[in-house]
Amino acid sequence: MVQVLFVCLGNICRSPTAEGVFRRLVEREQCHALIGIDSAGTHDYHIGEPPDPRAQQAAAQRGIDLSPLRGRQAVSEDIERFDYVMAMDRENYANLLAICPVGLEHKIRLFMEYAPGRGEQDVPDPYFGGAGGFDRVLDMIEEAAAGLLADIRERHDF
Ligand code: 4NP
Repeated sequence: MVQVLFVCLGNICRSPTAEGVFRRLVEREQCHALIGIDSAGTHDYHIGEPPDPRAQQAAAQRGIDLSPLRGRQAVSEDIERFDYVMAMDRENYANLLAICPVGLEHKIRLFMEYAPGRGEQDVPDPYFGGAGGFDRVLDMIEEAAAGLLADIRERHDF
């Protein structure tokens, strides 16, 4: 199985959204037996908490249920266990590199690399902004999720 981990700061807004979006896409494309999916945060602020109500509501409007997810903190072993470690922004990327076992740095990538048409490096942190930020985050994540799945299918030949 190919293992994919989405990582943001708190694991209550962007990375659970990415987990939910990617899970639905993987199921629609009938790849769920081949791809494992999880999310985590670089910080410990929201361990055990469900996703932010604004993230849940924005995702629910697109038919995605984030309510079962719970926050957890990313650890070094995650980078051993997961094949693709997707950082939502450059700060998350730097924080992941800081806990990365030597030789596994190549597994950590900026998620927006998989939506090259957008020309953006970061999924913006919607936590301190208005509700509209969550829709914009969903648009970006849906596009990068499609790019990531296409890349995985091509690389792993399924
Ligand atoms: P996330 O958003 O990294 O997308 O889950 C944030 C959630 C919480 C905080 C920052 C960003 N916080 O500072 O508590």
